[in-house]
Amino acid sequence: MRNLKLGLLATSMALAFSVQAAEVEVLHYWTSGGEAKAAAELKKMMEGKGNKWKDFAVAGGGGENAMTALKTRVVSGNPPAAAQIKGPSIQEWGDEGVLGSIDAVAKKEGWDKVLPPVVSNVMKYKGQYVAAPVNVHRVNWLWVNPELLKKANAKVPTTWDEFFVTAAALQKAGIQPLAYGGQPWQDSTVFESVALGVGGVDFYKKAFVQLDSATLSGPTMIKVLETYKKLKPFTDKNAAGREWNLATSMVINGKAAMQFMGDWAKGEFLAAGKVPGKDFLCVAAPGTANAFTFNIDSFAMFKLKDASAVKGQNDLASTLMSPAFQEVFNLNKGSIPARTDLAMDKFDECGKKSAVDFKATAAKGGLVPSWAHGMAMKSATQGAVYDAVTQFWNDDKMSAKDAAMKLAAAAKTK
Ligand code: GAL
Repeated sequence: MRNLKLGLLATSMALAFSVQAAEVEVLHYWTSGGEAKAAAELKKMMEGKGNKWKDFAVAGGGGENAMTALKTRVVSGNPPAAAQIKGPSIQEWGDEGVLGSIDAVAKKEGWDKVLPPVVSNVMKYKGQYVAAPVNVHRVNWLWVNPELLKKANAKVPTTWDEFFVTAAALQKAGIQPLAYGGQPWQDSTVFESVALGVGGVDFYKKAFVQLDSATLSGPTMIKVLETYKKLKPFTDKNAAGREWNLATSMVINGKAAMQFMGDWAKGEFLAAGKVPGKDFLCVAAPGTANAFTFNIDSFAMFKLKDASAVKGQNDLASTLMSPAFQEVFNLNKGSIPARTDLAMDKFDECGKKSAVDFKATAAKGGLVPSWAHGMAMKSATQGAVYDAVTQFWNDDKMSAKDAAMKLAAAAKTK
């Protein structure tokens, strides 16, 4: 009798639990070593709050595959609870009428007070929070294997002229200078850093934020394109199609000396047990020390009917913005917290530098959105500009002048 009672009690508790436990399906594309470690922290915290985590991971750096998968799900009326959506495309999804509000959580927790406006503005649709930010990635980094540079007696470059001297010295010493992944989003990631370094902040803003035709097709852009194409002889024959994290592995394993990539690459170095300042260096891409291309990851919430699912979304929103999550996630991800009220003492020198530079560039005007990572253009425009950059990189017969005209035409895509 006693056992039966206990048994019944256990069953009813389990039932109550299963009614309460919300299943939270989250779409992301964090599948590389460092990314997966960072994503695992979110799953752990959500499960700790009694939610059931349903992982909707779609591999493919930069998230293009993930966005295709998301469209299919939303169009069929079956969206996930949340998806990793960033920048202006949050507004595009808002316009579709499919996003749900997390404004009550944001108000209760005072998000407006702990997020800089450059972050919080993007998270709101018609004044209401519909997305929660998790980090700030810096894109204009150059990752360096110092041992290989030493072998070639080459200097860590701070200007483009120095970069090409270093690359030539490495090549002469039989060392692969540049680890490169030839995919449209990666081409544009590198191109964007070249544009910032060669053209400067005002040029960058005019070209990629204001989409000014004369700037996109003008002489500075031609110089940017020529500089970008000069990188190609320093890449290897197998670069086409290579995933970014495999390129990072080349720097980690001493197969190549440098890579241009955002600081999600740092997540790979750390996951491989490498120490910044010793095994690898993070330096601003040539000519960009006073600028910061920001890329903010965030999760937008979809409108769901089920009350337990909505509770799960609110838990997710609260978790994403919690100081504990923002710290542990970003220690693994390579980025810095989106909240500006957190201590940075657990972060390494790259993270600390990023946080200092983020604040300094915000104050002095060098803070620019990474268009290659969805922070500046509408998605259709961005796709067209990607294509122009990639076509130029791959077609050795195309002149920089023609490519500049193509860029200006692509930027008109709506
Ligand atoms: C970026 C994204 C990062 C990282 C990277 C590689 O666009 O913001 O979080 O995942 O792509 O996939």
